[in-house]
Amino acid sequence: MKINNICCLGAGYVGGPTMSIIAQKNPDIKVNVVDMNADKILAWNSKDLDNLPVYEPGLSKVVKEARGRNLFFSTDVNKHIEEADMIFISVNTPTKTSGKGKGYAADLKYVDACAKQIAEVSKSNKIIVEKSTVPVRTSEKIKDILTSYNTNVDFQILSNPEFLAEGTAMRDLEIPDRVLIGGDNTIEGKKAIDSLVEIYSSWVPKKNILTTNLWSSELSKLTANAFLAQRISSINSLSELCEETGADIEEVSKAIGMDSRIGKNFLKTSVGFGGSCFQKDILNLVYISRSLGLKKVADYWEQILIINEHQRDRFSKKIIKCIKNRNLKPKVLILGWAFKKNTNDTRESAAIYVANNLLNKGISIEIYDPQVKENQVNFDLSNLNPDYNKSLVNFVFEPFQNISDYNIIAIMTEWD
Ligand code: NAI
Repeated sequence: MKINNICCLGAGYVGGPTMSIIAQKNPDIKVNVVDMNADKILAWNSKDLDNLPVYEPGLSKVVKEARGRNLFFSTDVNKHIEEADMIFISVNTPTKTSGKGKGYAADLKYVDACAKQIAEVSKSNKIIVEKSTVPVRTSEKIKDILTSYNTNVDFQILSNPEFLAEGTAMRDLEIPDRVLIGGDNTIEGKKAIDSLVEIYSSWVPKKNILTTNLWSSELSKLTANAFLAQRISSINSLSELCEETGADIEEVSKAIGMDSRIGKNFLKTSVGFGGSCFQKDILNLVYISRSLGLKKVADYWEQILIINEHQRDRFSKKIIKCIKNRNLKPKVLILGWAFKKNTNDTRESAAIYVANNLLNKGISIEIYDPQVKENQVNFDLSNLNPDYNKSLVNFVFEPFQNISDYNIIAIMTEWD
């Protein structure tokens, strides 16, 4: 089936960039990205392309080319669901904060709400594409919701997890290592898969488009993130060993990375990984494993998170100890608040945790980040600790002017 009209639910870090590329590469397909957050949609429609809600190198150029031609951002969710042949669900799937699985399981309330809304509004057959990262077998649950609210139309469900990395999203979308599409092994399921393959084939070589069953696709995304995070925790755990022994982690990293079986990527030591995905996806993997009685498997993957937290705490303790031992003025300049360079995303950034640890010891902090706004910093700190001491926090715009005034500078993000 040839797709003419796409609707994407969720205009966030995945929905926005992903749909921009799909629209750019398929000018004959109308792509409507919808979100219930009106401010976000307003920002996506902003004339000032420096003010898009997502900062990604190269994104504004693609938006400029496609927006108003075949790419549209809107809050009119129902209208665009109804018009669409294919609907992507790109909403957030955070860790549950209450109920069964609290602190571990993925909260699927936004995905479920999308499925319900799609079912209620749809009058014609639709292909539903899970873009959000979800627990294995979620597609089954989506199908149940769709069919229990609407028996008049046919819904085909596909899983098409997103592997982009923030900061390099546009390059990752333009030249993906692979595109993964999971679907049902039925005639209708295969037709749905073919429709999505055709959209990606506009710019991705067919050999890089992998098709699997639904559950392999869902689980592959969770495990890809777990493997990537595992490498970071592995190298970070060794950084502590290096500090105790006089070995140099950069040298160790280079030496092991030159082994072609290991490879050099994701071997840089840091204050710990952040971002909205690694932690929540591993927690989810731990939850799924534990729910299936696989305690040893769950414990194995959970250790990655334990090391990550340990690395952040260890870094904070070093600063606190240094101030105390050298009797320094208790003030630290924090360079970088985003969880990595080339993004304005601060979710789970190590900087938030380190800043909180310092504030808890009465140490004042000055913060600079080229892409993060002051209100986001305040939001992040109060989200972690509603009683944080605001008088100890200062946001600076020109940190390098008086750089020699600082005794301690914590480089939290590897911004160039
Ligand atoms: P986000 O929080 O940036 O965006 C999600 C958007 O969905 C929000 O703007 C929210 O208002 C909207 N939304 C929620 N419910 C809605 C509804 N019923 N109707 C319309 N809009 C609704 O989240 P992000 O980062 O884009 O992640 C989305 C999914 O993609 C998550 O499952 C995440 O795990 C996954 N993912 C994220 C990656 C990343 O680098 N951020 C990479 C790969 C996957």
